[in-house]
Amino acid sequence: MAELDKPQREVEVPGDWTYASAPESRDIVEIADRYGHFVGGEWLEPTETYETIAPRDEEPLAAVGQATAADVGRAVAAARTAYADGWSSLPGSERAKYLFRIARILQERSREFAVLESLNGGKPIKESRDVDLPLAAAHFFYYAGWADKLEYAFPNRRPRPVGVAGQIIPWNFPLLMLAWKVAPALACGNTVVLKPAETTPLTALLFCDVLRQAELPDGVVNIITGDGRTGAALVESEDVDKIAFTGSTEVGKEIQRRLAGTGKKLTLELGGKAANIVFDDAALDQAVEGIVNGIYFNQGHVCCAGSRLFVQESIYEPLVAKLERRLTTLRVGDPLDKNTDVGAINSAAQLERIRELVASGEEEGAEIYQPPCVLPEKGYWFAPTVFTNVAQSYRIAQEEIFGPVLSVLTFRTPEEAVEKANNTPYGLSAGVWTEKGSRILWMAHRLRAGVVWANTFNRFDPSSPFGGYKESGFGREGGLHGLEPYLTFEDSETFGG
Ligand code: NAI
Ligand code: MG
Repeated sequence: MAELDKPQREVEVPGDWTYASAPESRDIVEIADRYGHFVGGEWLEPTETYETIAPRDEEPLAAVGQATAADVGRAVAAARTAYADGWSSLPGSERAKYLFRIARILQERSREFAVLESLNGGKPIKESRDVDLPLAAAHFFYYAGWADKLEYAFPNRRPRPVGVAGQIIPWNFPLLMLAWKVAPALACGNTVVLKPAETTPLTALLFCDVLRQAELPDGVVNIITGDGRTGAALVESEDVDKIAFTGSTEVGKEIQRRLAGTGKKLTLELGGKAANIVFDDAALDQAVEGIVNGIYFNQGHVCCAGSRLFVQESIYEPLVAKLERRLTTLRVGDPLDKNTDVGAINSAAQLERIRELVASGEEEGAEIYQPPCVLPEKGYWFAPTVFTNVAQSYRIAQEEIFGPVLSVLTFRTPEEAVEKANNTPYGLSAGVWTEKGSRILWMAHRLRAGVVWANTFNRFDPSSPFGGYKESGFGREGGLHGLEPYLTFEDSETFGG
């Protein structure tokens, strides 16, 4: 006892409570020096290459191919052969077997994929590990389940595959967008030529290894890398039956013009400028978390990001105060650090675009707030930003910034909130925060947005269809709706579908 009674020696009290670094090891993933195109189950030597880098510090990661029109032609021919040679007539239960395998392998190798995604794209490992990878695997599981049930999904319509699908995806969710596109296409019996974005090709190239492990027949999925020129060649390829595109509205419009009159099927998932609407009866702390998740998740590189915050006037001051305080706790830095909340901007070009739009906001008269944070010297970085005093006419309230930048506006009545929220060329998503269930339904009915979240934001599920109105595009991905773009129906002529 006497021992215990002894007064304790003085312990030094830490004065600094910042997080120690907790880096995820990058050794788990092996990156080759050079990659070709994955065509017909083989690696095709590229004629031209470019370097893909890590946006966190501009470290060169690998040389990847810039596919020419001739390479695109080879990939499309391989997909056509695989389509005719058995894939399209395989029983649905057999196709499902491959999709289930892919899903399981993605789960098994998820840490490897998450590290590579964060390294090549800049997103926090916390997100690639907890969101991108689980959702990518979930998409394959989900569509595996539909593969042998298409007749039940579309009764009396005799669903049949479309043929060869050309798929062009962006850099914000590289592997997840691949999963959104490849899984339903294969479930429906199509074959695929996919082009990842030029800045983030590495997880799509690693995915080729998964295809081999799953013993997917050669040519069912072909992956070619390159920039917009490769994408344009894929769109123009005569032997492609369907194009699925996710990216900018500008390129989406261009693709639609190219395909007009060709009879090819097309789905477009384009930009957004989502309204996140907070009523005065909402749980404010919960709403603040939703606002932060809505705009700072993946550095705001999200087509459905809640980039316009509409706050009911009576709670404007307390809400903005809470939001700004919360921003000071966001940790900006190394994407491979497990404590990081906001990672690196994907590319120099995107950083430039964000800077330009933020400068326009300041020039037009909005008030800028950025929490104090030290940004790394190398690489592409932008501090989380909030603009108050924003008029609807400002560019920062109209144009998609695709960065960690929020514009705050106000409203008085639900009618005014709807009118302002719908005052945009886009219509991809929206959020409503209120305690009243009836108001949620009233709002959801009037908001012109493909997805309306209530008391949450940025929630995704493979069984839930996703897609836009107006300049956000057309067609749906996910859910039963997501099967339709990859099928033709016996009644198509009768019903004009
Ligand atoms: P982008 O639309 O140029 O790129 C998306 C994909 O399309 C990439 O794979 C690209 O190589 C390909 N592409 C480019 N030009 C093409 C063409 N003429 N034909 C066929 N494919 C083509 O988007 P970018 O330039 O990377 O970003 C610009 C802006 O677009 C962003 O700041 C953002 O506002 C928006 N964006 C929206 C996305 C979304 O998820 N809806 C994703 C990426 C960008
Ligand atoms: Mg572009």
